[in-house]
Amino acid sequence: MTGVDAPRGLHTLADYAVRASVALPRATWDFLEGGAGEERTLAANTDAFDRTRLLPRVLSGVGRPDTATRILGRTWAAPLAIAPVAYHTMAHPSGEVATARAAGRAGLPFVVSTFAGRTFEDIAEAADAPLWLQVYCFRDRAVTRELVERAERAGFEALVLTVDAPRLGRRLRDLRNGFRLPEGVTPANLPGDGFASPADHARTAFDDTLDWSVIDWLRSISSLPVLVKGVLTAADAHRALAAGADAVVVSNHGGRQLDGVPATLDVLPKVVAAVAGNCPVLLDGGVRRGRDVLSALALGADAVLLGRPVLHGLAVGQEDGVGEVLGMVVEELAEAMTFTGTATVAEAGPHLVATPTDSH
Ligand code: FNR
Repeated sequence: MTGVDAPRGLHTLADYAVRASVALPRATWDFLEGGAGEERTLAANTDAFDRTRLLPRVLSGVGRPDTATRILGRTWAAPLAIAPVAYHTMAHPSGEVATARAAGRAGLPFVVSTFAGRTFEDIAEAADAPLWLQVYCFRDRAVTRELVERAERAGFEALVLTVDAPRLGRRLRDLRNGFRLPEGVTPANLPGDGFASPADHARTAFDDTLDWSVIDWLRSISSLPVLVKGVLTAADAHRALAAGADAVVVSNHGGRQLDGVPATLDVLPKVVAAVAGNCPVLLDGGVRRGRDVLSALALGADAVLLGRPVLHGLAVGQEDGVGEVLGMVVEELAEAMTFTGTATVAEAGPHLVATPTDSH
């Protein structure tokens, strides 16, 4: 897809968000878009990207850049993956199956939530790209073990352990709406019931006493690489490395946990310095255009994950809509690489980002 070839007259991810907001019921939209508390962290994530200025390089001779990259032994079409977001079936009943097909067509990995609305087996059958399982560790470890084993059998290639959710953040929009899962939306891979209120379910099921030994436990039940999602400080990055993480994901859960924690882009350089090249560093939160991907790469990320915009694409156009959203970000990334004289992903570095004195 090129910039002029917008299939629905939608030219930016923000356009998809507007269209999705019209298509979805209000309470569902609020669940999807909302953050915790006063949504300061939610806003900070996008503000951090908005503030970043990229420095152009003229007459660089780059032409069409190569957006491909290699992460954990696999080639991705671009340094972009789909973040784990619960219940894609809220955006459209085809849910994660449609998303997996679009990811496959785009050559980008898909991190499937523990709270997927479709079964791992159905998603794996539809997928042509790497699938990773996002893991919530429940008090009942047998449930988590079963999820991991099923995903591994279905061909998933990595585990993404979410470490920033000993409980769910206070999401005021959901509290005010008395949010319950819409009719027909269920966590297809979890046994039992009692899921209608995600907040109530998390309160009873999540293990709020988890510590770093959970990584050893995951290794004892699976041979898959383990990524740690939800790191925001150098100290926790050191701990993740010491615990044997195969990669860290700088994330504040899209501003949905503790409101007031920093924007992911703002803490990225410190985490990258702490990791010191010992493992890949991924980032999510607030990526809304291709140039944001390049900003994150410039500040040391190996790749980024995209959350809410994928659900916008799904709500607007099912599999094709997700494909359009992913294609748009990759195309915008290529554009930003060309203008900054960046021929390959590996060439991105701090030299691309203006310091405050450069911008004046
Ligand atoms: C999430 N996120 C999330 N993370 C996770 O580890 N497991 C999950 O099940 C979910 N579910 C979920 C639902 C919804 C509706 C949202 C918006 C987010 C967090 C997600 O993986 C990611 O960290 C952020 O969404 C990234 O930010 P952006 O791209 O949405 O700004």
